[in-house]
Amino acid sequence: MKYKCCDHILGSIDLSFSGFKYCNEVWEGPEYISYKEENAFEKNEIRRLKIIKDMQEGIIPERCKLCPILEEKDWKEFDGKIHKITIFNWKHCNAACFYCSVHSDFFEGIKKSDDYDALPIIEKLIKEDRLTSDTFVAFMGGEPTILEEFPAILKILLEKNCRVEVLSNGIKYEPSIGEMLKAENHNTICISLDCGFRESYKRIKRVDKFNEVTSTIKKYIKDAGKKANRVKVKYIIFPNVNDNKKEIDAFFDFCKQAGVKTVARAVNHVESKMDTTSNQAIETSVIKAYSYFKRQAAKFGMELQPEPWADAIVENKVYNCRKISPFARLKAECHFFFGNKK
Ligand SMILES: C[S@@+](CC[C@H](N)C(=O)[O-])C[C@H]1O[C@@H](n2cnc3c(N)ncnc32)[C@H](O)[C@@H]1O
Ligand code: SF4
Repeated sequence: MKYKCCDHILGSIDLSFSGFKYCNEVWEGPEYISYKEENAFEKNEIRRLKIIKDMQEGIIPERCKLCPILEEKDWKEFDGKIHKITIFNWKHCNAACFYCSVHSDFFEGIKKSDDYDALPIIEKLIKEDRLTSDTFVAFMGGEPTILEEFPAILKILLEKNCRVEVLSNGIKYEPSIGEMLKAENHNTICISLDCGFRESYKRIKRVDKFNEVTSTIKKYIKDAGKKANRVKVKYIIFPNVNDNKKEIDAFFDFCKQAGVKTVARAVNHVESKMDTTSNQAIETSVIKAYSYFKRQAAKFGMELQPEPWADAIVENKVYNCRKISPFARLKAECHFFFGNKK
């Protein structure tokens, strides 16, 4: 059937800090259904079916109207399969990055998540046959490797042949990630190193763990063998912190020496607010460092992971607004005048 809809509505689940939602494309997305509510999971699914029906009838929530992935096309009928899970519900971390939007507590060692355990939900999805080998699962938010349940979740996902990406600070080497990197699927890990020197690391991450992280990166590269491009090393550029050539050169020196094949660059997304309504200015030094990073990656033959949202911030186009015409944007911003009052 041809109508306006998106891939999130038709099969995404976001397991966040406080509850479920079906979309995390825009920060103003649907409200969370709290884990504390009875039958929270089922309520999220009922809500999904309702929004699919609404979309089919042309009733589109205001927050979706600005979303770049909302698309009019012949959508396949929803078959209950989940194609994307974002596990973003843990706030424990063994670092304390000054820029982190998670506002993690600081915890060294292994911890049981006291907010919410994703394992029973993943088990439920598998039992109900809702995951396929096309399902992509991303671990974000807090540090996944310090969670007691992490290896068990990863194991059942790999048994189901799902594709997995883990975002980790790399302070703790986790052997199950080594196994994940060897699997047939294109599973990946992305580690934010953000610098080239131990002193800078201490300033940015507020823990003295540069040597541990660089050693973890080398171990994962060894584990991955010929699939070393699955280990991505990331650099978030901050003004007056790491937006200089010396730091970026040291980062690439380490990457070359460690055999890193894939790098990623980003900018501070907190400043962008990742929202759909306001523009932001970005420092010239950050823009220069952003392009210098790309040139260095090309020079050393390293793959650069695309980050469309960071490109949009650098180009001073607001993430999620980049495909929107000025008129559509104005109309959406003034939705209280034009909005569907139904
Ligand atoms: C919150 S972290 C959680 C995973 C893991 N602890 C880590 O550091 O990679 C998820 C991702 O968000 C990125 N991130 C956190 N705060 C950010 C910010 N203010 N601007 C841009 N990226 C940020 C991190 O680098 C990481 O890739
Ligand atoms: S390591 Fe990750 S979760 Fe921890 S404070 Fe840094 S960005 Fe946040």
